[in-house]
Amino acid sequence: MSESLIIAPSLLAADFSQIGKECHRAIEAGADWLHLDIMDGHFVPNISFGPEVVRTVRSQVPDAYLDVHLMIDQPDRYARAFIEAGADMLTVHLEAPHDVRRTLNMIREEGVGVGLAINPLTLLKNSIPFFEEIDLLLCMTVNPGFGGQAFMDEVLDKVKEARAIVRERKLDMRIEVDGGINGQTGSLAAAAGADVLVAGTALFGEDSMSDALNAMRQLALEANAGG
Ligand code: DX5
Ligand code: ZN
Repeated sequence: MSESLIIAPSLLAADFSQIGKECHRAIEAGADWLHLDIMDGHFVPNISFGPEVVRTVRSQVPDAYLDVHLMIDQPDRYARAFIEAGADMLTVHLEAPHDVRRTLNMIREEGVGVGLAINPLTLLKNSIPFFEEIDLLLCMTVNPGFGGQAFMDEVLDKVKEARAIVRERKLDMRIEVDGGINGQTGSLAAAAGADVLVAGTALFGEDSMSDALNAMRQLALEANAGG
């Protein structure tokens, strides 16, 4: 794991009738980043929100680091709109129909963080050729589309393999896990080498997000120290 652990609450599980308040709740609880899930009803069988909501979030929390996860077809067509709306990190899927290298270059040129996501069934080896070009590899730990699904622990082997490559090549690339993350699964992922934990239900669903987030961080740091 790199020097710092990032915890990124996913706004998909927030109360959208008071989105500004929910963002502040997450930040006050100790969130390092906010994770925003964009779904188009094509790449995944669900629709969430678009750039205008990202812009609203940005206006509510001007200093927050916005980690935007595009689960959409043709991310190259929409990347700039999300960057203009306030994304700090923009992650696109390897499986979506687009020229992956071109899209990653375009995001890089726009001056924000470059992320690449792979679904649970996608082989890690398909993403390895891009490792030198990205700031973050997102290993999905559920099939994307919905919050509240069960963590797929078979993804941990990919996280371990990716971490080994990062170490060996001395890369500056974070490894993010997303889907079914709670204190227990987060610590398994951290032990395997993940250094960004995304969690929706397990954080926004708690009365005290701060207790849940602190516990998640503690367990992850202990697991990593022992692993
Ligand atoms: C799933 C999304 C996740 C989701 C995680 O497609 O990418 O970010 O919000 O939700 P939980 O933590 O509830 O599994
Ligand atoms: Zn996500």
